[in-house]
Amino acid sequence: MTILKKRVAVIGAGSAGLVCTKILSDFNSTESDIQFEVVCFEAGSQVGGQWIYLPPDDKEGLGNIKDYGSIYESLTTNLTKYQMSYSHFPMFQSSEHSTSNYQDFSLFPSHAQISNVEKVEKYLQDYAKGFDLLSKIRFNTRVVEVQCQTIEGSTDPVYNCNWAVTSRPSREQSHEEKDGHELLTEQFDAVVACSGRYWLEYIPSFPGLEEYQGEIVHSHVYRRPDWFKGKRVLSVGYGASGKQITEEIAKRGNPKTPVYHSVSPNHHATTDDPNIKIVGDISEIIPGTKSVRFRSGEEEEFDVILFSTGYDYYFPYLKTSNWDIPNPGTNVSVEIVEKGKNIHREGSLDEWRNLDDISPSCLLKISHSPREVFPVYGHTVHMKYPTLCVLGLPYQINPFPLFEWQAVWMSHIWSGMTQLPTAEEMQKSVSLFRKETEAVQTERKSRIVSIHALDAQKQKDYYQFIQKQTGDAVQRPWSGKQRSHYKKEIVQAKARHVDVENYKADQLSSY
Ligand SMILES: Cc1cc2nc3c(=O)[nH]c(=O)nc-3n(C[C@H](O)[C@H](O)[C@H](O)COP(=O)(O)OP(=O)(O)OC[C@H]3O[C@@H](n4cnc5c(N)ncnc54)[C@H](O)[C@@H]3O)c2cc1C
Ligand SMILES: NC(=O)c1ccc[n+]([C@@H]2O[C@H](COP(=O)([O-])OP(=O)(O)OC[C@H]3O[C@@H](n4cnc5c(N)ncnc54)[C@H](OP(=O)(O)O)[C@@H]3O)[C@@H](O)[C@H]2O)c1
Repeated sequence: MTILKKRVAVIGAGSAGLVCTKILSDFNSTESDIQFEVVCFEAGSQVGGQWIYLPPDDKEGLGNIKDYGSIYESLTTNLTKYQMSYSHFPMFQSSEHSTSNYQDFSLFPSHAQISNVEKVEKYLQDYAKGFDLLSKIRFNTRVVEVQCQTIEGSTDPVYNCNWAVTSRPSREQSHEEKDGHELLTEQFDAVVACSGRYWLEYIPSFPGLEEYQGEIVHSHVYRRPDWFKGKRVLSVGYGASGKQITEEIAKRGNPKTPVYHSVSPNHHATTDDPNIKIVGDISEIIPGTKSVRFRSGEEEEFDVILFSTGYDYYFPYLKTSNWDIPNPGTNVSVEIVEKGKNIHREGSLDEWRNLDDISPSCLLKISHSPREVFPVYGHTVHMKYPTLCVLGLPYQINPFPLFEWQAVWMSHIWSGMTQLPTAEEMQKSVSLFRKETEAVQTERKSRIVSIHALDAQKQKDYYQFIQKQTGDAVQRPWSGKQRSHYKKEIVQAKARHVDVENYKADQLSSY
């Protein structure tokens, strides 16, 4: 059999890019004549992505808004090392591919600043070394543009275009482009976007916010509580970041007054910490002042508003159009850039999800609300140009195993071992999934409705979907203790969300 080598560009060497590079590079099946030659582009100087802790410039400062990293100093994982293992590289026992003894790792490991031994970054470095991935990674190289070149008259349902990938040297791990560096453009058969999804901060808009006279910061730049010393702080958001950072500032930050924590009444949040005051939603900022009015009618002055309100999807190197749809179900009115021209469009949300609008000049549509990247099938494969895949869109999930399943599925599609449905069928199935997901999330009154937010059950379904697609090729990442921890996680996912510290204490006591 003559082997056909397909050249693949993987963008990013975080936990998604690494597992993707390994699975594609090692792909070798008797059922296919295709193998992959991978070039992994990494803007930073080392592997690990989010798990590389980026300290602030000075002891009390904030991180840099332009950096990719969002990990703060005291952070330990909120998933166990069992849940954070790739199936072929356990983070809980020794393995032939590593000199580290992961038995010594804590159940909830940390990052380098806290411990030199038990850090997720080390696990990822060991992984890259152990599976010989380093030689495939081009460090300090940022991808600045990916161009889709359709192949005239192609009838291949998968390889229907080529990709021109333009990169430039980057000296720092920052998503700000640097001018003056030379550009290099290379051809690839396929592209995988693994550039992460936790670095473009999302700040909701409130009347008067633009004229707020205090400081506005996002949890993306939070590193230590010291910066908040002597300040009157309003903290917004009740995800993992919002909860933990609010508690840390209240306990160790020495703020001037109790930290006000703005939480939607749907969460029924309570606290026994006298240094935290739970308040409801913000109604407005009194223009030109530091005063915030809440829906309850209460009004208070703050020196700083800290938004822990999550992140938006962002792929600056792909041709995308961003849509802001304030009220799903209503008509939208947007300016989009298409083929270099500004076009004004009005239409319903369903019109927005139109495959005909997708072309090399607009590869993805990204809407902020509902939060969605379109058109991707199974949260991974581009419906029109299947040699473009995106890893890591799903959230509220166990990231490492999920990245692995996505990579295995992708390798099966690209090797011809798994056939994709037609674009029409894919769109239909995504629409069905969307309707069901949006109904559940709307019922739960989630602030951000998103097709990519998978709860524990949906994650289990997703695993089964990929297992079916790949003829059971995804390895069950859970065996023995790992499996029992995962099952526990499904049962306790809610408990983890409500009170992570209690959840961790519970897990540790049974460990
Ligand atoms: C505060 C916080 C805490 C978290 N805690 C946990 C936890 O406890 N457990 C857990 O499992 N997950 C946790 N996560 C989720 C975490 O993001 C994932 O575990 C995982 O690190 C995501 O990996 P990734 O490869 O998708 O992205 P990243 O880790 O962000 O890696 C993306 C990589 O792409 C590179 N890159 C970006 N753009 C380009 C470009 N144009 N060209 C070249 N390279 C580029 C970046 O330099 C980076 O190295 C947490 C996330 C946050 C924000
Ligand atoms: N290892 C750790 O301990 C740790 C620590 C921090 C983060 N993380 C991980 O990092 C990822 C990101 O977490 P995150 O907490 O930064 O983001 P997130 O999970 O997206 O949470 C964002 C929060 O912002 C709230 N929000 C959104 N729009 C709002 C608005 N208009 N007004 C008020 N609140 C609004 C949401 O409210 P609703 O809930 O009402 O929708 C949600 O609670 C997650 O995977 C998380 O598990 C892990």
